[in-house]
Amino acid sequence: MATSDPALTIDRRLPLILGFQRVAESTEKATRFIEYGKGICVYDSEGREYIEATSSFYVASLGYQNDELIDAIERQYRDLPFYVSAMHRTSQASVDLAEKLVEIAPVSEPHVMFGSSGSEANDFLIKMLRFAAVARGEPDRKTIISRRGSYHGGTLATASLTGGHHDEFGLPIEGFRHVSQPDYHGAREPSESPAEYSIRLAGELEALIEAEPEGSIAAFFAEPICFSDGLRTPPAEYFPAMTTVLERYGIDFVADEVVTGFGRTGRVFASETLGLRPHHATMAKGITSGYFPLSAIAVGRELYQDLETGSDRIGTLAHAGTFAAHPVGAAAGLKAIEIIERDHLVEHAATMGERLATGLARYADHPLVGDVRSAGLAGCLDFLRRDGDDRPVNDDADAVLKTVYEALLERGVVGRPAGRSLVFAPPLIIKADEVDEICSRIGLALEDALGGS
Ligand SMILES: Cc1ncc(COP(=O)(O)O)c(C=O)c1O
Repeated sequence: MATSDPALTIDRRLPLILGFQRVAESTEKATRFIEYGKGICVYDSEGREYIEATSSFYVASLGYQNDELIDAIERQYRDLPFYVSAMHRTSQASVDLAEKLVEIAPVSEPHVMFGSSGSEANDFLIKMLRFAAVARGEPDRKTIISRRGSYHGGTLATASLTGGHHDEFGLPIEGFRHVSQPDYHGAREPSESPAEYSIRLAGELEALIEAEPEGSIAAFFAEPICFSDGLRTPPAEYFPAMTTVLERYGIDFVADEVVTGFGRTGRVFASETLGLRPHHATMAKGITSGYFPLSAIAVGRELYQDLETGSDRIGTLAHAGTFAAHPVGAAAGLKAIEIIERDHLVEHAATMGERLATGLARYADHPLVGDVRSAGLAGCLDFLRRDGDDRPVNDDADAVLKTVYEALLERGVVGRPAGRSLVFAPPLIIKADEVDEICSRIGLALEDALGGS
């Protein structure tokens, strides 16, 4: 209904561009302004409380207002608020964090390179793989394979590595190829077993490698458990089949642990959860619980040796990130990891994750839900349903997802729509009654959505 009150009709455009939404929707009315956070909750400018059941994009593992972490950051600000790490200089905090990461990374004898974001970690690693290939005298080995539906970052290279949204950005740039994402629930043939499905996907990888010029592929990047496409926990047979192919062709395996690192999957890294031994791993998000932007690359032994060889053949490693290895970020990372270890938050996440899995499993037979998956302290509802002949039946999974997501937001819980699924990954500090509260509100939101559908 038209109104004559301009205050009610004007929806002021915000002076900022927000991602993962339509640009035209960056208006005052369409936006929630989050002003405050405490524990696992955030509060908007109208005083509404939301349980952040995604840790805000899988970042705030220690929740909001962790005083110890804030104090450690403040101390570092007072001692040394910034110093660049390059040209034979660095800060003690950066070296200390590198040493800690060498101790815990899921990679053999790693060296550490820092960045400021998950995108930079993946981007810088691609650059190091190329530098090393040149140093080895194999300059053509620069193609990277990743999986459709994955997300690996927003830079030109990592958006190319990302398995979708290419056309609208004129991507991918040269040197990126994609294979299927494991989606056993959505993409299996009727009655295809997990093992058969995994072998089919490994065959697709091998066919792609065979179709490329010999010796042109440097690495395969994958999240061990893909959050970006909707918590795609792979069949147990998937990675063994894939890594067998990679080993046959001498291709490095990179674990993107940007989301899954630092306890999310019930072990420190998801590579451990799945028993993987990647050549290299990238990490960000939970490394500082989001209190400072910082990322890291665990560079495996052989790649590091090639980088050293590059020093002889090429000379200077002409690379740096001014803010990479930021001392304040390093202090935040050290303290966040210390708290995670001291408070046994990885074990706690595993226990709370079992509770979340049980709570979500209650909805497996709900008429809107097609599949429920979980991994560590993360779970999802998938809205693609299969019939008695094991065939997908509904083509409205995206619409159902949107309705449930919005109903849940109305009930004060932030979930994360991804692929066809609604993903939950609350802070590692969550308590049992808070897990139960999330699960019961999910039930209410499913009923709201069912009533409205
Ligand atoms: C798996 C994965 N890798 C990389 C990135 C990129 O990280 P950032 O947004 O910090 O650049 C993301 C971001 O969500 C991610 O989910």
